[in-house]
Amino acid sequence: MPKALVVYATRTGDTQTIAMRIAEGLRASGAEVKVVAVKEITNSSDLQGYDAYVFGSATYHGEMMEAMKKMLFMAEKASLDGKIGGAFGSYGWSGEAPDRIYQTMKNIFNMKMADNSLRIKSPISAAHTPVAQTYGREIGQKINA
Ligand SMILES: Cc1cc2nc3c(=O)[nH]c(=O)nc-3n(C[C@H](O)[C@H](O)[C@H](O)COP(=O)(O)O)c2cc1C
Repeated sequence: MPKALVVYATRTGDTQTIAMRIAEGLRASGAEVKVVAVKEITNSSDLQGYDAYVFGSATYHGEMMEAMKKMLFMAEKASLDGKIGGAFGSYGWSGEAPDRIYQTMKNIFNMKMADNSLRIKSPISAAHTPVAQTYGREIGQKINA
């Protein structure tokens, strides 16, 4: 069974909610999924052993959250070359974080990325559930392709 890791950085829980919905989509496509808060990744070895990685952060002051920046420096040492990737996050008006994460995964880690990042404008509602699940399912299908 393919394995996927979803890591989220959140302050008020919106990005965690998206992470959970993405995980549901990944599971529906047959992946075994672990969802963790970014603070649980303390070493690049915590990132080893997955086929797909989906990293998310809320946007604050035009940037991804500090903990996600730190984790991306750790991920640089995790040899994610060629692995499947996706990026996501909740935002209020500008939503820079998901694309910054996406571009780092694509250009620095050389990952095989989903067609785009998933940006969801708060407030998060039930209407967003299928959108996030579909994003997860698409990433799952890329693993199986
Ligand atoms: C102090 C503060 C600064 C924010 N800065 C931005 C910003 O620069 N761009 C943006 O799109 N949203 C901004 N937001 C909105 C948050 O990204 C939005 O509330 C998001 O849903 C929070 O996600 P979280 O619950 O995962 O922390 C800001 C919110 C606060 C409270």
